[in-house]
Amino acid sequence: MVAYWTSVGMREYYSRRAEEYEEVYHRDDSAAQRELQTIRHSLTTTLQGRRILEVACGTGYWTRSLSESAKWILATDVSSEMLAIARTKEYGCPLTFAIADAYSLPFKSRSFDAALANFWFSHIPRSLVHGFLSQLHRLLLPHSRVFIADNNFVPGLGGDLKVIDGSDDTFKSRILRDGSQHLILKNYYTTSQLVEIFRSVVPSFGLPNVFYGSRYWYVSYHVDEPAEHH
Ligand SMILES: C[S@@+](CC[C@H](N)C(=O)[O-])C[C@H]1O[C@@H](n2cnc3c(N)ncnc32)[C@H](O)[C@@H]1O
Repeated sequence: MVAYWTSVGMREYYSRRAEEYEEVYHRDDSAAQRELQTIRHSLTTTLQGRRILEVACGTGYWTRSLSESAKWILATDVSSEMLAIARTKEYGCPLTFAIADAYSLPFKSRSFDAALANFWFSHIPRSLVHGFLSQLHRLLLPHSRVFIADNNFVPGLGGDLKVIDGSDDTFKSRILRDGSQHLILKNYYTTSQLVEIFRSVVPSFGLPNVFYGSRYWYVSYHVDEPAEHH
């Protein structure tokens, strides 16, 4: 069993998981279904009419909802297997797919006025979170909007949580349908940790920017400082 956090390891894991991935959205759990609807409503209204970069779009599950109100979307992911599924869907706005590594997004500064990254943040090693957000914000025009959602820790769901000596990060042990076993980096955050992290890159960020449910959290905020040119 390999501990995965690098782009290559995560890509391999998600490529193997692609066909079964969307089962996570169809669990018989009314709290989860309610909160997924809250996320859907919030992201389609707050990113309405925008030119959106989606990071780690996966099978296009959120891309579809987003496309109902977006102006256009560049939907990216590191896994061609995940993108192959996303490409089979129908979308409500002009949209392009691209293979891209979230840690080195190959786009020009100030190319977008919104960004979406759902269920990706928890896979970023804590030491790389600041760099990821700074890079993402550089791709955005001033006054852009960012929406990021992810899981809260729910005991018994999605495999056992593992702590590895000497690591700041936590991991989940996962078994795929093909029987393969994987140790996946998966970090969970409290509300105050989210506020601290996002405030370090967006000074105006505060509690009102956070939704913290029983299954999921999301943050929705403006990048109000003009992005630096690089
Ligand atoms: C939990 S899935 C989320 C997919 C989709 N955003 C959603 O919410 O349904 C995580 C996604 O991150 C992608 N991924 C993993 N490492 C990546 C990286 N370094 N850069 C970009 N995407 C990556 C995987 O291929 C997978 O599609």
